[in-house]
Amino acid sequence: MSYTPGEVFINEEQIKDAVNKIAVEINNKYKNEEVLLVGILKGSFVFMADLIRKLTCPVKIDFMGAKSYGDGTISCGRVNVTKECDMPIRNQHVLIVEDIVDSGCTTSFLKKYFEDKGAKSVRLCALLSKPSRRKVDVNIDFLGFNIPDEFMVGYGLDYAENFRNFNQMHILNP
Ligand code: PRP
Repeated sequence: MSYTPGEVFINEEQIKDAVNKIAVEINNKYKNEEVLLVGILKGSFVFMADLIRKLTCPVKIDFMGAKSYGDGTISCGRVNVTKECDMPIRNQHVLIVEDIVDSGCTTSFLKKYFEDKGAKSVRLCALLSKPSRRKVDVNIDFLGFNIPDEFMVGYGLDYAENFRNFNQMHILNP
């Protein structure tokens, strides 16, 4: 069965407005304090690139790879770190940047990961959230959109590594 991108669910204008809104909130939160933005590969890279250019607080960036393996039960499965964060974490404000929070397993693991490394604070920014899919409660400090349980592609999000390049977010059609 092949899948194709269907209707536009979140258009370019809506994405731009959400990125600007989130950037204002981040600027207000950190003001003159330096924050390390850590984008979680791969999906976050487009959002991250747009977001950092709207930030006025002092910013450093890094990327990290993490893969979550659900076990089909209500609890989270394993999360493997596929690429470590290279920047020093101790006494650093860390802001995790995700394209989407689904079960919450990846981000709850990452919050603890940075806390254990001695971060001064650990917050979470996500463009999309699917609350109906949550397996573990995770607080999203800066959020673009709550969305229903639809498979979304574009603006960094993929289906089998396809469609990340689309500049709007589409629902995937079978
Ligand atoms: C997605 C997304 C998050 C994670 C969220 O990554 O970017 O990292 O899943 O899911 P969770 O809340 O259920 O843990 P994915 O594994 O699809 O990899 P990708 O970003 O490379 O597409």
